[in-house]
Amino acid sequence: MLLVCVVCHVFMLVLCLSADEDFDWTKNEHSSFYYGTFPTGFSWGAGSSAYQTEGAWDKDGKGLSIWDVFSHKNGKIQQNETGDSSCEGYYKVKDDISLMKELKLNHYRFSISWPRLIPTGIKSEHINEKGIQYYDQLIDHLLENKITPIVTLYHWDLPQVLQEKYGGWQNISMVNYFNEFANLCFEKFGNRIKYWITFNNPWSVAVEGYETGDHAPGLKLKGTGAYRAAHHIIKAHAKVWHTYDTQWRGKQKGLVGISLLGDWGEPVDINNQKDIEAAERYVQFYLGWFATPIFHGDYPQVMKDFIGRKSVQQGLGTSRLPTFSSQEKSYIKGTCDFLGIGHFTTRYITQKNNPSGRSSNSYFIDRDLAELVDPRWPDPGSEWLYSVPWGFRRLLNFVKTQYGNPMIYVTENGVSEKMLCTELCDDWRIQYYKDYINEMLKAIKDGVNVKGYTAWSLLDKFEWDEGYSERFGLYYVDFRNKNKPRYPKASVQFYKRIISSNGFPNQREVRETKQTTKTKSVSFFISLFLLEEQRSTAANILRLIHDPLTSHMEMVTEIVVPTVCTLSILLSAIFLMFLLRRRN
Ligand code: NOJ
Repeated sequence: MLLVCVVCHVFMLVLCLSADEDFDWTKNEHSSFYYGTFPTGFSWGAGSSAYQTEGAWDKDGKGLSIWDVFSHKNGKIQQNETGDSSCEGYYKVKDDISLMKELKLNHYRFSISWPRLIPTGIKSEHINEKGIQYYDQLIDHLLENKITPIVTLYHWDLPQVLQEKYGGWQNISMVNYFNEFANLCFEKFGNRIKYWITFNNPWSVAVEGYETGDHAPGLKLKGTGAYRAAHHIIKAHAKVWHTYDTQWRGKQKGLVGISLLGDWGEPVDINNQKDIEAAERYVQFYLGWFATPIFHGDYPQVMKDFIGRKSVQQGLGTSRLPTFSSQEKSYIKGTCDFLGIGHFTTRYITQKNNPSGRSSNSYFIDRDLAELVDPRWPDPGSEWLYSVPWGFRRLLNFVKTQYGNPMIYVTENGVSEKMLCTELCDDWRIQYYKDYINEMLKAIKDGVNVKGYTAWSLLDKFEWDEGYSERFGLYYVDFRNKNKPRYPKASVQFYKRIISSNGFPNQREVRETKQTTKTKSVSFFISLFLLEEQRSTAANILRLIHDPLTSHMEMVTEIVVPTVCTLSILLSAIFLMFLLRRRN
């Protein structure tokens, strides 16, 4: 009898918990696979950027960008490769759209090359009609094929003239030049574009462009260059948002956001306050650097404190982190209709006190932390890219709590493979997508407002300072062949299946929906009598049956457990009736 009751309890609990799994994203628990589908209307896409795929670097009146110049300098890019021809995307609009159709994409994210439209970057000097025609036909073909374009205005290819004349993003004049370029795009394409992204990953522009010098324009202005560039980028973003808001939104009814890259930082020791603070600092110096001004009007307090203190210790009169006036703060605050999130990986973070002498001027030193990785994390491709799916769910929950649950589009997520790998059987990529998309699904279940997902990237392409040595594509591109043919990798079929079923549906789930009304009320009643330990036993059982590796167990639990339980309930009822009768 006792055994029957325990079985009944556990069974009901499993049903009860499957309807309401608790999750505290601040705790270091890594849960298992979750079956389910995405909300109706969830948008599935893939992405690219102009310099990484277009090629045609000097064709049809295009001006030079800082990447054209940087990649032509000796020793800047692996094997001295350039994006001169890359995937020849400029000539393959129809071919590439047929690949998107094959995948059944809902949206395609691409960027507009500023110097292709305005060769010197200065609108009053010259507008390149051929450039406008190119993007016109790209947008039109996408729409004809029912693929929504999501357009990035700045994916790192600043017109070279603006770099040479003014010092690029070190100079405040970029704000107006960029605003004029954006305004031209709204005027020419805004009747058909409803999603605009001002900047892609400004963290990289600032840190890799002006601090480490690994990216164009290759400047090493340690401890100041990145902060200054970021300051101007944030102002430029806000200005463009206001331009759209006041001049175009009424007619065009689109949205303007920004795409921020954020790795997740997990404390090495979750019981150590110093590690917890260091991990928070890591995320604030990364995503928060840009998101906090845009959502709250100013830089994260922790950045102001740390950079301010280090600057004083270095004998400087003011902080190396620039400040916003109160007018600027209110102008910048709230300039985001949706937030684009690019996410690839995670780090363990621990506190580390860095020296603060004049010679140790740097963004990295300012953070006072050390980054670690778990050697067991898979790292199939880029050196920095470890697959840590649970970090994605944490990052998304962080965005929800810090910035008032904004509308999110995941604008980049994916994994690369190593140089000499020409395999189309990219099973590690399938695993990466499966796990990361699953964590995104869990985040949505946590209440995070994610509306769309962009696999990065549609094609193999020029991977910045790594040249063509790191391939992120769903489609393999043969760069040695002049025609740059594309071949689907195995992940194409996998992603296609996710798109067509809108996630990870499970037959059990379909049946459960039918039973929900019946079981919920019963399980709620029974759960009132259960102890916390029993809840965790049931939760473990629940995890087990959600694990794909034990899916055969699922079959057993689906058939055996319900049958046994129904029989047990019947038997208990008969037994009770029998007892009562005997008493009478
Ligand atoms: C972020 C960049 O925006 C994108 O261009 C690049 O391909 C990915 N990181 C992978 O490195």
